Amino acid sequence: MYLVTGATGNVGRNVTAQLLERGAAVRVFTRDAAKVSQFAGRVEVAIGDFGTPESFARALDGVEGVFLMNGGTSGAAFEPLVDELKKHGRPRVVFLSTILAGRPGFHIGQIHKAREEAILAGGLDGRFVRPGGFMSNALQWAGTIRSQGMVYNPMGEGRSAPIAPEDIAAVVVRSLITERPEEKVFEVTGGALLSVPEQVEILAEVLGRAIRCVDIPVQAAVQGMVQAGLPEALAGGVGESFQAVRDGHGAMLLDTVQRVTGRPPTAFAAWARANAARFA
Ligand SMILES: NC(=O)c1ccc[n+]([C@@H]2O[C@H](COP(=O)([O-])OP(=O)(O)OC[C@H]3O[C@@H](n4cnc5c(N)ncnc54)[C@H](OP(=O)(O)O)[C@@H]3O)[C@@H](O)[C@H]2O)c1
Repeated sequence: MYLVTGATGNVGRNVTAQLLERGAAVRVFTRDAAKVSQFAGRVEVAIGDFGTPESFARALDGVEGVFLMNGGTSGAAFEPLVDELKKHGRPRVVFLSTILAGRPGFHIGQIHKAREEAILAGGLDGRFVRPGGFMSNALQWAGTIRSQGMVYNPMGEGRSAPIAPEDIAAVVVRSLITERPEEKVFEVTGGALLSVPEQVEILAEVLGRAIRCVDIPVQAAVQGMVQAGLPEALAGGVGESFQAVRDGHGAMLLDTVQRVTGRPPTAFAAWARANAARFA
């Protein structure tokens, strides 16, 4: 039995689907059972919240591996979750980290690195999947695409290699089901370097509509995130990563997806076609 947290999220949803395709038994951890109705009858559902470690503890019964994500912006403490993992059979843990965990000086990287270290300090069999920016981040543009035909871009012409959540999930699943892996840290990127204007051009073609890409300062994007309710430190951290891409430091291509899964990463155009309805 595998426990999938964040099972309603971009990566966890795909981890769940891919484990089921392999015939594995899956328990999903969510705050809201209605959100996992697509898996009804095929998974066990554990209702819980990272902020309530007892609910996480109950979900760990009889589990051999856990896909653990950081709970987004929930602010829940992480160490109590590690304590429960230690008390409940020490299942292997595949943690959804970030590529920034391996780059000193980034606030978001530090948060994830500290969690990786807490897992290791707990003596657990931790495996860390560290993706760069997700293709699904483009969904944050859906609102202004719909209402104004615009994308506001704080990353300038800087390129990065966005990765499809299903490719991250494929690396996670490999890591989760492998008893004694040779590697335990997987930095993952997509297969092509693209700037935001280039991603927007592809989206415009796929969606069959004109979309203008407008450059904005990083600080304006940070203020927008704070106004939308993101804690200031976290918004500043995201801003740091925008600035790094803007300055050309995001231009990195890794062959991890091909090497681990045996197939090339999903192209942005293919991801956009598969998700076109979500922009409509
Ligand atoms: N976006 C990027 O470019 C990027 C890059 C590198 C790393 N990452 C990592 O990926 C994470 C986002 O992953 P994602 O896109 O798959 O997630 P997501 O789509 O943002 O979904 C968030 C998930 O977190 C769960 N969650 C939130 N608060 C929770 C709580 N208090 N208790 C239990 N579950 C909670 C939600 O579950 P329910 O609502 O069902 O309870 C949901 O499934 C980031 O936080 C970061 O760690 C992201």
